[in-house]
Amino acid sequence: MPKATVEAPSNIAFIKYWGAKDLDEAIPAGPSLSMTLQRCASRTTAVFHEGEDGPDEVLVAHNTDDLAPAGDAFRRPIVRHLRRLCKWAGRHGRFQIATRNSFPSSAGLASSASGFAALTLAVLRAFGVAPDRATQSVLARQSGSGSAARSVMGGYVAWPEGDRHAARQVAPHDHWDLRDVIALVETAPKKVASRDGHRRANTSPFFEKRLSLLPERMKRAAAAIEAREFEALGEVIETDGVELHLITMSSVPPIFYWMPATLAVLEAVRELRAEGVPAYSTMDAGANVHVICEPHHEEQVARRLSRVDGVLEVIRDRVGPGPRTDVEPLL
Ligand code: DP6
Repeated sequence: MPKATVEAPSNIAFIKYWGAKDLDEAIPAGPSLSMTLQRCASRTTAVFHEGEDGPDEVLVAHNTDDLAPAGDAFRRPIVRHLRRLCKWAGRHGRFQIATRNSFPSSAGLASSASGFAALTLAVLRAFGVAPDRATQSVLARQSGSGSAARSVMGGYVAWPEGDRHAARQVAPHDHWDLRDVIALVETAPKKVASRDGHRRANTSPFFEKRLSLLPERMKRAAAAIEAREFEALGEVIETDGVELHLITMSSVPPIFYWMPATLAVLEAVRELRAEGVPAYSTMDAGANVHVICEPHHEEQVARRLSRVDGVLEVIRDRVGPGPRTDVEPLL
């Protein structure tokens, strides 16, 4: 029975994907750029029962080692993606899927990026096919999770490129060792899913303006990464992270992801900078804050964040090389 296991990491966007031309296939309205992480990852095993009919089986481990059948809301987009991948490969059969996140328990960081990247890559391996990275990225994107298109590659990744809207690596992980110190201030699932946020983005009167600024911002971020200029990159990261939330807060109806502790962490990061510690914050569609810094400041940043009122846990991650296949299967 063809079986394959892949562990794919999550990523943190320095320039955010927000708003889509096509939500089902995640064709973004604007460009984005991210750093692939190392520790926050999803491991997925796919077993392909070629030629067999019947329902796909999806098992998931939520914060425990025990796999259990996934609930409907979790299972549905996975099954839809499996059918799409079968169609793409011209194959027929049913799957057994098992998946588990490496995120520390209660992290509230669950992202579709690592999950759909791992699922896509595990299924391709189970099919015995090895399309190039751009095609892997396109297939991951077609899950509907745009950020998954970036998680099939390591290092620093820009998206989308070309007619197929694939991701492209801007620099490998060993070009520049950056750290992501994550201040968890909330562990509950987000109140408004990214999908609804993308849908609402163009109701903000500032959305078109944001899109007009992104090409230049992408260039500045890519140049800062190439030259390893941390402060120049940091300014882009912080500007764009706040701007995502300006769009959400000015959408109709508005979405407020921040919590009081989010603002307290942002303040702590500004204080760190005033004290001479270069660190820059960014938030995805949620209240948790990712603080990006260089390795020699990680300890100090982590210590400071853990003292902020309302911070439940501090997770340290770093830029990573991308998906791995040398991992234990789940089935
Ligand atoms: C704010 O549609 O990829 O993280 O992973 O479920 O959040 P989720 O979905 P996706 O949107 C990502 C939105 C973002 C910004 C980003 O990662 O670029």
